[in-house]
Amino acid sequence: MFVIEGGKPLNGRVRVSGAKNAALPIMAASIMADGPVTLRDVPDLVDVRTLADLLETLGVRSDRAVDGSLNLQVVDDSCIVADYELVRRMRASICVLGPLLARRRRAIVSLPGGCNIGDRPIDLHLKGLRALGVDIRVEHGYVIAEASRLRGTNIFLGGSFGSTVTGTCNVLAAAALAEGVTTIESAACEPEVADFGRFLNAMGARIEGLGTPFLRIEGVDQLSGAEHSIIPDRIEAATLLIAAAMTRGQVTVENVCPTHLSAVIEKLREIGVPLFIESQGEDATSLADIRVEPAERLTATVCSALAYPGLPTDVQAQFMSLLSLCEGNSVVTDKVFPDRFMHVPELVRLGAQIYREGPSAIVSGVVQLRGACVMASDLRASAALVLAGIAAKGHTVVRRIYHLDRGYDRLEERLNSLGANVRRVTDIVENVPDSLKLSHTTPSAAMFTSEPETISASFPTTGGDRRIRVDPPQSAGVEQPADSQIEKVDLSGTRPE
Ligand code: UD1
Repeated sequence: MFVIEGGKPLNGRVRVSGAKNAALPIMAASIMADGPVTLRDVPDLVDVRTLADLLETLGVRSDRAVDGSLNLQVVDDSCIVADYELVRRMRASICVLGPLLARRRRAIVSLPGGCNIGDRPIDLHLKGLRALGVDIRVEHGYVIAEASRLRGTNIFLGGSFGSTVTGTCNVLAAAALAEGVTTIESAACEPEVADFGRFLNAMGARIEGLGTPFLRIEGVDQLSGAEHSIIPDRIEAATLLIAAAMTRGQVTVENVCPTHLSAVIEKLREIGVPLFIESQGEDATSLADIRVEPAERLTATVCSALAYPGLPTDVQAQFMSLLSLCEGNSVVTDKVFPDRFMHVPELVRLGAQIYREGPSAIVSGVVQLRGACVMASDLRASAALVLAGIAAKGHTVVRRIYHLDRGYDRLEERLNSLGANVRRVTDIVENVPDSLKLSHTTPSAAMFTSEPETISASFPTTGGDRRIRVDPPQSAGVEQPADSQIEKVDLSGTRPE
């Protein structure tokens, strides 16, 4: 678990790692290579190690070189079974299905099973593969698939929630080694899918239209080994930008592709976060640094998570943490995973005011979050709780951070390098800070205090930084003694505390 002492503004520079969601399908595609594959900027994450273990059982050997790059090489192409014990640890294991069928023509891959962010069917993956001529049945929790021939065809991959990221990768992989031409309509446009396609092209595939919903694939007989650099992780970049904004810090996030983050940048600016893109080359897709300055005032907004180029569902939880501290009422909807709200009750434990209203959550901004013990439910929910913890007053304990380690490379070290105080400790009660421990026989007297509290706040509309008094609910409206230094502010309207 993490023990966080919150309330310190982040300051400094931090570099973004390679994208997990690009690295995973690209590693899986090494199954298709007739030669060694070298991948640079593969992040060192639990999910990456889980996939390396699965690939090992499928006859692909991998090792990290001294310079950090990941080498993969097929040493045995007779294995076709992706076992439940490995697949259940990570849904992205389904990415081996397309490459196995493309190269070995048979695959038995466990269904990934349930997930905390909602239903995650793979019907579109199977629809696309069937269209290419794959014979598929699902038995005993396994997808059992065989393709004596793969034939190019026209495939529509859209579903009720838009297109599918890993499904597009699976169909692209099979189409790359199919006979003739395949067109995919309503393909996922996420930068990670485009990176996957670029890797296949580096191996000798012929794919056009990457980054658009219309892909054209001319099948080839064979794919060679290749070298490839993974794109920077736009979700990690967004998480760090939001962390800086929430703590009113000054942080430069290095190694980002601003065009991959357009929706995030736009939304942060709308909320009032001063954001500057630095040292970007001529090309719109070139890498840059993004600097966040402390915001004078953060205001509510309406956020809908959508498929790319919309606001990513993978930053919805982190945005909700930020909106908890924005003046006014925000509305958050997730159109990709409509039930992805497991972080809501945990953020509420930290003092956020959030109400579920059908497919949306209404976030009523508060002046300050306050530390508490909370539980992570999935990868991005954990990130949201860590951000809330570093912005909150006092101690926060975030349990089940193994979710976080799946997708972030030592996030606490990166945050600490910017001045945060996040400690990774064993999850035992002795490690919970005293300030968060309550004995039922002797509850802390402080819990019942109704003393008003003085905090610093910025009110640019009425002029500069001021110290204000926040009345606890039981004394709100009661006349307080005069104090020339301190101003009493009525927060009973749009900013409950
Ligand atoms: C990928 C990402 C994940 C991200 C998600 C959406 C990886 C390894 N994971 O997951 O981090 O949150 O994209 O951007 O890249 N759907 C169907 N039928 C299908 C497949 C999907 O209805 O066959 C639905 C899903 O339930 C969801 C939506 O389509 O509502 C998008 O899912 P999808 O793009 O497939 O997500 P993943 O590829 O699993």
